[in-house]
Amino acid sequence: RLLIIDFGSQVTQLIARRLRELNVYCEIHPYQAVTDEWLRDFAPRAIVFSGGPDSVMRDGSPRPPKAAYDLGVPILGICYGQQVMMQDLGGRVEAGEQATAEFGRAYVTPAAAKSALLAGWFAEGREQVWMSHGDHVAEIAPGFEVLGTSPGAPFAITADESRRFYAVQFHPEVHHTPNGKRLYQNFVRMAGFQGDWTMGAYREEAVARIRDQVGDKKVICALSGGVDSSVAAALIHEAVGDQLTCVFVDHGLLRLNEADEVVAMFRDHMNLQVIHAQEQELFLGQLEGVGDPETKRKIIGRLFIEVFQKYADRIDGAEYLAQGTLYPDVIESVSFSGGPSVTIKSHHNVGGLPEKMGLKLVEPLRELFKDEVRALGRELGLPDHFIGRHPFPGPGLAIRCPGEITREKLDILRKADAVYIDQIRKHGLYDEIWQAFVAILPVRTVGVMGDGRTYDYACALRAVTSVDGMTADYYPFSHEFLGETATRIINEVKGINRVTYDVTSKPPGTIEWE
Ligand code: XMP
Repeated sequence: RLLIIDFGSQVTQLIARRLRELNVYCEIHPYQAVTDEWLRDFAPRAIVFSGGPDSVMRDGSPRPPKAAYDLGVPILGICYGQQVMMQDLGGRVEAGEQATAEFGRAYVTPAAAKSALLAGWFAEGREQVWMSHGDHVAEIAPGFEVLGTSPGAPFAITADESRRFYAVQFHPEVHHTPNGKRLYQNFVRMAGFQGDWTMGAYREEAVARIRDQVGDKKVICALSGGVDSSVAAALIHEAVGDQLTCVFVDHGLLRLNEADEVVAMFRDHMNLQVIHAQEQELFLGQLEGVGDPETKRKIIGRLFIEVFQKYADRIDGAEYLAQGTLYPDVIESVSFSGGPSVTIKSHHNVGGLPEKMGLKLVEPLRELFKDEVRALGRELGLPDHFIGRHPFPGPGLAIRCPGEITREKLDILRKADAVYIDQIRKHGLYDEIWQAFVAILPVRTVGVMGDGRTYDYACALRAVTSVDGMTADYYPFSHEFLGETATRIINEVKGINRVTYDVTSKPPGTIEWE
């Protein structure tokens, strides 16, 4: 296994991701935890020093343990990791000045020395890389050679081949270093990794870690039917079986047949213990007459926590709460917490629950990205159509029914949504679209059907492409598709006589209507 010593870079997890893509097993450990003794015990086959925000010029700045250099294994230092390696081994680092700091795109060209680290590099003379440093190496350590330079970093790539120590000033793990993966590939090949580690192996390791953490204690999980909580539940169930109980809160704002499908799948197909909390009356009752979007969201969020707590209290001796937190959620909550950002929408989640209930967290997906979670879900036997499902927001159809919610409107909305999604699937477009749904509008319009006048609701179709939900563009359906879908909805769904298509991108729009 490979060890990543984390010095606090924002992109350390991307190193792990690149390595997983190369089918190499790695673990990230914060530098504080990596002592000489621990390291010898861990016995990595290779080590990566991550980047970090500190300056090696500062007394007391983070260091790797000295033993790292004595293990005889290859080391790759990145950015701060390069500077720390150079300083530790007898080179010199200079504090950043404006003239030498580099942020963003830069180009590295080859130097005289060659190395297997750079196999496949410089085919076109130079490589684009992503730099982000204030300090820089002023003098390389004895035994090192320069393999590549950039205008702002004369020691952009350095190596001591005899010891297999490599150090680069840029970030090969980020998207903006397009050939960075090749560099990692060369590094792990030199370290002797076969690249035979798989999601199946990850599953086994994750299961072992969960068992280790949870022991014989009980775990509860708020199952939403979304991919993240589903995969988390399936994984934890594999680890601790019936020590896990899931609570599926049915707030009456779900899609057509959704509650039954989710409960049946987990209960019957996957054999999990699932409590189906039928609280539709409670939620819809409290939402009656409420039209303001934020008030709706707050009511749903508060009730959700109350209901979950009520059911969880019935499970004797639960000590852990399982959550399907993904790596991007971890980053977002770190980099945005306390920031001056405006609340656009108060997102619905169960954050705050664990402290309130005195529960400890199990978050087995914390280091994974969405596509990796999907791969793990497939590995665990969750059906493909389930894993590939579009995201669905916690407040459910409440935010697709602008203004006051009524049961009548929810029923109409469910039917229209089902027809729309059926159309999208039939045309083979489902997987191209990030998210698609119908919103029912709080207006009635006049129409004519047969020989009669109608006075029914209008609805809006929404479909967007996106990579992370932060920005989005509307999906360019053909006019034929839109026409056919409108006809079907109006013919098949009583209560709707007009269909519109929402062509707003995000920003300025949001994906959901509220
Ligand atoms: P917006 O509407 O803010 O949505 O552009 C971005 C993404 O987040 C989803 N969404 C939510 N997900 N709880 C969730 O779990 C929420 O309260 C919530 N609100 C929006 C939305 O469906 C889209 O994928």
